[in-house]
Amino acid sequence: QTNPDREARNILIANDRGGYTIPTEGLYPYQWNWDSAIAALGFAEFDNDRAWTELETLFSGQWSDGMVPHILFHKSDPGYFPGPDVWGCNGPIPSSGIIQPPIAATMARRIWEKDRTVGEARVRALFPAMLAWHRWVMKWRLDDRGAVCTTHPWETGRDNAPDWDNTMARIDASDVGEYQRRDTSHVNSEDRPTKFDYDRYIKLVQIGRQSNWDQQTLLSANPFRVADPTMSFTSLRAARDLLALSAALGIEADGLEDDIARLEAGALSLWNDDLGSFDSRDAHSGEWSESVSNASYMCWFAGIDSEKMLDRLRHTLDTVPYPIPSYDPDMPKFDARRYWRGPTWAIINMMVGIGLNDMGHTKEAEQLRAKTGDLISAYGFAEYFDPTTGSPAGGNAFTWTAAVWLHWAG
Ligand code: DGY
Repeated sequence: QTNPDREARNILIANDRGGYTIPTEGLYPYQWNWDSAIAALGFAEFDNDRAWTELETLFSGQWSDGMVPHILFHKSDPGYFPGPDVWGCNGPIPSSGIIQPPIAATMARRIWEKDRTVGEARVRALFPAMLAWHRWVMKWRLDDRGAVCTTHPWETGRDNAPDWDNTMARIDASDVGEYQRRDTSHVNSEDRPTKFDYDRYIKLVQIGRQSNWDQQTLLSANPFRVADPTMSFTSLRAARDLLALSAALGIEADGLEDDIARLEAGALSLWNDDLGSFDSRDAHSGEWSESVSNASYMCWFAGIDSEKMLDRLRHTLDTVPYPIPSYDPDMPKFDARRYWRGPTWAIINMMVGIGLNDMGHTKEAEQLRAKTGDLISAYGFAEYFDPTTGSPAGGNAFTWTAAVWLHWAG
């Protein structure tokens, strides 16, 4: 009989590489941005000091303009592609040139609230860096309505979500050249993005590199710019948490209230009335993705209530054996095992659950928490799960699933 709390702690400890935590051995051997913020939340359940170190190490890779990269390549690992040589970035630590959902400020606030004695000095010291990242997002990633855009499918974390299909189909990747994927040598290729998608992921990296990762240039050079619920809801939430921290700690942070109003308008602009859901929108063409994803349910996390999303959620909780599927099972592109085209992800569930709880939807929050807990205790600390059978998929002994267990689901 194994003890899941102990197992979860052991996963974090085993994936600790000294100041940062890898998502999982083999498949993801570096420090990933939002994985790391979730790892910090998990560590805070038994080692608050180590939780702060995780965030500090993440921000040690921050670029001088405020950007915090999606991967920090602390030590080279030939088992991963594309590595630092492909990205060609010049930050303080070898890194990728894109971001991930900016959840670090939100997690920092939660960790500080858990233990203010350890957290006070640490959160104070990190605050300017977190604010600088927020300002970078405000400067470079908003569309004309205030919704936050992703400039690479990897930025949202939802790599192969159907949200990007139309935009990706318009990208010409015929000259991407030869390259060797590594992900499919670690896990089942049926669980991973297709070659069609992968060619375009790499093509977009090449475009970024040719532009020297200059954001002004990329505004027009990058064909991939999609306003998305993950980026919009997490950025809005982060701005609210930064404002709360600045008030509690008495730190000046000019402009946050205006930023929140702008981000709120942007997030609301992602409501697709015909679809009856929050959706993604191509920022170049204005076209909707027509996609009900698990990110659509992150509205409450951003402090946005929606009766229609609540009805949808109740239906999902009643009809899907292991909710929340990353793509609506009633839609034609649903694929129960392929990464973000169907599978259930514990971290998204946690953020949805935290949001529901904050907004007083405690019954739904508790249902989702209990179902996520049952899923993990029955099928283990997998990267993600088949929403119809619960069977584990992708990598195993996964850091963020363990952290979600410790902080919320267990
Ligand atoms: C990958 O390499 O599959 C990652 O999702 C990039 O962040």
